[in-house]
Amino acid sequence: MVAGAASVRQAIGSLVVTPRPLAEYRDMFRLTEAGLRAGPILDCPGGASPFGAQVRARGGSVTSVDPAYRMSAEDLKRRVHQDIEHAAAWMRDHPDNFDWSYMGSPAAFTRSFRLAAEMFLMDYAPDDARYVAASLPRLPFEDGAFGLSLCSHLLFCYPEHLGYTAHLACLLELTRVTRHEVRVYPLVDTAGNPYARMSELRSELAVHGITTEVRRAHSQYVLGRDRMLVCRRGRTTRSRPATVRKR
Ligand SMILES: C[S@@+](CC[C@H](N)C(=O)[O-])C[C@H]1O[C@@H](n2cnc3c(N)ncnc32)[C@H](O)[C@@H]1O
Repeated sequence: MVAGAASVRQAIGSLVVTPRPLAEYRDMFRLTEAGLRAGPILDCPGGASPFGAQVRARGGSVTSVDPAYRMSAEDLKRRVHQDIEHAAAWMRDHPDNFDWSYMGSPAAFTRSFRLAAEMFLMDYAPDDARYVAASLPRLPFEDGAFGLSLCSHLLFCYPEHLGYTAHLACLLELTRVTRHEVRVYPLVDTAGNPYARMSELRSELAVHGITTEVRRAHSQYVLGRDRMLVCRRGRTTRSRPATVRKR
């Protein structure tokens, strides 16, 4: 049994809407220039990230999905600026959680996110083509509609809000709409703790015919955030354990 859309939306509807820029997506997901153009790419949740706008400017194709796109452009703008201040305050209060050789400083983080938010807001329009207002675990797309799907800073980050069943439902849905790979980053919560039920989740995904792999990412904002989960649709392997690459 999988979690319903309403229960997931209710549980995590209050998350910060962040504007992570393309450079950070490249590092989190090890994206190559060719991969960015290969498209179509799903960015879910897109938040206020200018990833889609920046990839389209290079000739690629991206659809961003987020329940926040139900807001008016004005409300979304207000919310994004509030959330940048919220995230910056969290960093200042928890300096030991972060890899400052990557981040620079809280001030550099704030500048980079403000700039990214401006890029997003210049491109954003709730048009249901580039920016789709929807929520996991129910996506309004055909099976295999995307070559690659990216899920940044939602799954595994908020285990106190999003339970095991909801994680499974979200990954099944992302995999349903993806032909090649789903990449999820990070695999730790906001305090840097690894997701406790990862191996159980991977075994259950294998039962649903989904192979998984933990791959190294380039970035490490928060200490311990240097891995992504990769999921692919494959053949059903009911009698076999999940494909686990030990490191
Ligand atoms: C921390 S932001 C990440 C945004 C972007 N990927 C980034 O890395 O900057 C988390 C986002 O998850 C969105 N969200 C909350 N519930 C969701 C759901 N059920 N399905 C998809 N997105 C959801 C929030 O609206 C918020 O924009």
